[in-house]
Amino acid sequence: MMALLEVKGLRRRFGGVTALDGADLSVEQGRITGLIGPNGAGKTTLFNAVTGALRPNDGAVYFAGTDVTGWRPDRLAEVGLSRTFQIARGLSALTVIENLMLYGKHQPGEAFCAAVLRTKAARAREEELRLRAIAVARELNLLQVGDNRAIDLSGGQKKLLELGRALMAEPKLIMLDEPAAGINPTLAKKLGEHILALKARGMTFLIIEHNMGLVAALCDHVVVLVQGKRFAQGRFADLRSDPRVQEAYMGHRA
Ligand SMILES: Nc1ncnc2c1ncn2[C@@H]1O[C@H](COP(=O)(O)OP(=O)(O)OP(=O)(O)O)[C@@H](O)[C@H]1O
Ligand SMILES: [Mg+2]
Repeated sequence: MMALLEVKGLRRRFGGVTALDGADLSVEQGRITGLIGPNGAGKTTLFNAVTGALRPNDGAVYFAGTDVTGWRPDRLAEVGLSRTFQIARGLSALTVIENLMLYGKHQPGEAFCAAVLRTKAARAREEELRLRAIAVARELNLLQVGDNRAIDLSGGQKKLLELGRALMAEPKLIMLDEPAAGINPTLAKKLGEHILALKARGMTFLIIEHNMGLVAALCDHVVVLVQGKRFAQGRFADLRSDPRVQEAYMGHRA
């Protein structure tokens, strides 16, 4: 069976730094794949190069069998590839529901048109987006703070909102960059439960995470990236007890 996401020989340099040195990775449909490795291994760069935030110098990215190398983020979102950022960004003074609505599918300039024209179609579209935003907020236990400003949310709720924004695009694959960073263990566990619930409904995930408890609890398959290359892959339990992996992970850790 063809993997949902296939990354082949991805390379990216920044001046003298080789962040990606021919990285390979595949993500099977319906699974949670973990991407781990020491700080500076190239994990976020791989996300950026896959999701169109950054152009790779070489290599290829296939999504659902299509060569999507170098595609822009909005075009990737349209075919079902959605991501979140290591540092949550763009949380404005808008409410939680409004924030979610901004990330709905197909709305190039629609908000503006809707405001000016107030056409029946635009109103219907806005209503549809609002209903989807409410459904996503309910799914993530954010409905009770739906009318609060996003910037006033707790750290854990901000993480959930970030996941919610990815969900609004009705993705096939969600890529999460350190979803548990900066939140307490209880919230990390909650977030993990939400991710597992989405997986049970058929969602596919690729997750960068330093919290090994969460990796153990969530991931079906784990890829270890070291110095821009895939160093090992397999089940987390096997990787954890592999001295080569321990050495590579610890040895490069500052
Ligand atoms: N925009 C950039 N310009 C210059 N160098 C960069 C840039 N982005 C990343 N790098 C460098 O590329 C290497 C890989 O960084 P990257 O952020 O991908 O690592 P990471 O595996 O995500 O690390 P962490 O676990 O700390 O988030 C690092 O040496 C980093 O300093
Ligand atoms: Mg990173």
